[in-house]
Amino acid sequence: MSASDENPAAPDQHLGDSTQAVHAGQERLKFGKSVTEPIAQTATYVFDSLNEFEEYKQGKRSHFEYGRYGNPTVSTAESKLAALDHAESALLFSSGMSAITTVLFAMLRSGQHIIIMEDCYRRTVQFCDLLGKFGIESTRVPPSDLAALEKAVRPETRVLLAESPTNPHLHVADLEKLVPFAREHRLRVLIDSTFATPVNQCPLDYGVDLVFHSCTKYLGGHNDLMAGSVCGRAGIISAVKEFRDVIGTNTDPNTAWLLIRGLKTLALRMAQQNATTQTIAEYVEAHPKVSRVFYPGLESHPDHEVARAQMNGYGGVVSFEIEGDLARTRQFVESLKIPYLAPSLGGVETLVSHPATVSYSDLSREDRLEIGITDQLVRYSVGIEDCADLIADIEQSLAGI
Ligand SMILES: Cc1ncc(COP(=O)(O)O)c(C=O)c1O
Repeated sequence: MSASDENPAAPDQHLGDSTQAVHAGQERLKFGKSVTEPIAQTATYVFDSLNEFEEYKQGKRSHFEYGRYGNPTVSTAESKLAALDHAESALLFSSGMSAITTVLFAMLRSGQHIIIMEDCYRRTVQFCDLLGKFGIESTRVPPSDLAALEKAVRPETRVLLAESPTNPHLHVADLEKLVPFAREHRLRVLIDSTFATPVNQCPLDYGVDLVFHSCTKYLGGHNDLMAGSVCGRAGIISAVKEFRDVIGTNTDPNTAWLLIRGLKTLALRMAQQNATTQTIAEYVEAHPKVSRVFYPGLESHPDHEVARAQMNGYGGVVSFEIEGDLARTRQFVESLKIPYLAPSLGGVETLVSHPATVSYSDLSREDRLEIGITDQLVRYSVGIEDCADLIADIEQSLAGI
């Protein structure tokens, strides 16, 4: 057992998200009596004697051994993530994709099969296709389609992978239905909860096996780091850790420290991002130059009822379609003055994207349209700027088209 297997502060369900984010996983008395977590910038760790090393290897004492296997600053971040996600244990990775790929490699072997919801992050879907090279087949199913899911299950299916809410249409997976279905078919359920964050939903409370986050988004929250996490029961997480220790998809202490700092304000940021996004969604829904809005906080969203039952907030991303054509939509996006035109989401800066040009540019127009990525679709990821300023900016941009 390495020191990183131990959560210094086990998750305490009675404490609120901000209390957990600030205090979980940290010693009260730190190096030099500092208030904040020190960065343990080291590649390896000292043993006093060979006897001590042997005791560590036998699991008789807790100790860090080598940077790829664990680091005190990374452990603190992992403990905070576990506390926030109501998990026994968490692991941090160098990116959201390295969390997903490491876990799938650790859980699946040749001859087995995975089912993935077709509206998952495109690189996740691409990776499931790549698993075919290793003899692991995958089937894509439409979101919220239990009949298609039932048809896709094979005797060798082991994993069901979904995202909730999804990008860019903000579909919400109904965990009350999905989890019992998976149990009945002996599948592990993995949920990528990046768009929700632990503040807006805790899928583990519904019996989900593992929860992913791209910490690059809301958890870091400042568009300045790349990291990913997985949370769940200690047994599965420790099996994944063995795999991570071999393939080296761990993250570094500086990134972990930035994440620790970001996590402390997560609940504050999410409260504002939830509220601002709801207001913007309602504003654009009522605007004559917007033809369609996708936001689970709106009654018009097909998954609104599921989201209302399952989530504490609806998140910081709203997608909408501009009335008109591609040229008009591009003009709207480029006339916005506050958001940056950039991929990603979840930081303090509002970002805007045109999925047809940016994330789906490699697909033919027909293929794009088939999955709902129209020429007129805009993805708007709300930051923490003042709501009135963002709305005034959207208004001026819509007025100009
Ligand atoms: C829902 C979701 N999951 C996973 C990822 C991958 O995370 P990362 O970019 O940190 O590798 C992304 C990236 O955009 C994402 O949107």
